[in-house]
Amino acid sequence: MTASLDTHPDFLQARAWLQAAQRVAVLTGAGMSAESGIPTFRDAQTGLWARFDPAELATEDGFRAQPELVWNWYAERRAAMAHVEPNAGHYAIAAYQQRHPGRLTVITQNVDGLHQKAGSTDALALHGNIFQDRWLDLCFHARHSGRVCAPARAQPDSPPRCPDCGNLLRPDVVWFGESLPPETLHAADQAAQRCDLMLVVGTSGEVYPAAGLAHQARRAGAKVVIVNPHASDLDSIAHLVLRGTAAQTLPTLLCD
Ligand code: OAD
Repeated sequence: MTASLDTHPDFLQARAWLQAAQRVAVLTGAGMSAESGIPTFRDAQTGLWARFDPAELATEDGFRAQPELVWNWYAERRAAMAHVEPNAGHYAIAAYQQRHPGRLTVITQNVDGLHQKAGSTDALALHGNIFQDRWLDLCFHARHSGRVCAPARAQPDSPPRCPDCGNLLRPDVVWFGESLPPETLHAADQAAQRCDLMLVVGTSGEVYPAAGLAHQARRAGAKVVIVNPHASDLDSIAHLVLRGTAAQTLPTLLCD
């Protein structure tokens, strides 16, 4: 972070609100992981995938139409993410949680698992986790016997297939047009309603219902502070906008 930011009146005001807050919610997007080397979601696709549109691949219809292509796209993203480490911003959030148990809730749109890898507990992963899989369809046996086939028994393939009922595995992430996991979204709603301060870090604020959590926090009376080097769709509802990056801003903002 530039030396001028942590002496800027807005930064000092944000720190004062943070220190006074009993409950803090942090809503993060792809910019949170940019300094870990993961391109933000709307960066141009690179290499082999440059000719594909993520909005086409990251859909159930896209997977059903081209299961091997979509599975391999996720396999490549998983492999790229497997060796990625959290950045100073992730660690600052996790350290704050450890110093102030129960006071800060992480709500993330990211599927990279970096908040969890940095030590954040109970992160609410609104859009799932790219390293987990689930069945594409309701398992045949679950309809007739209540027993669901074990994903671990799926035959290795692209995508893996259940040997008993032929069901396909799919990445356990939220695709375009799909609902968010209800329990996770409910917990995020609660956190947004109850917090005194919401930090909105590294999101364009373009995708709902995730972006709506910032509106909810504002309506419920929380202070809303954005950390983003560029303008976002949520700037207009923020009380303060800190023009800095996650890894440069959060360690100083969150230190006691
Ligand atoms: P975007 O790629 O839309 O926005 C990334 C934001 O991070 C932008 O506002 C950047 O200015 C900001 N940014 C970039 N580098 C940063 C840094 N070092 N520190 C802080 N901010 C930085 O990503 P999201 O807003 O996360 O949904 O996209 C939201 C959702 O859209 C994704 O979760 C995905 C996509 O559809 C699903 O996968 C369901």
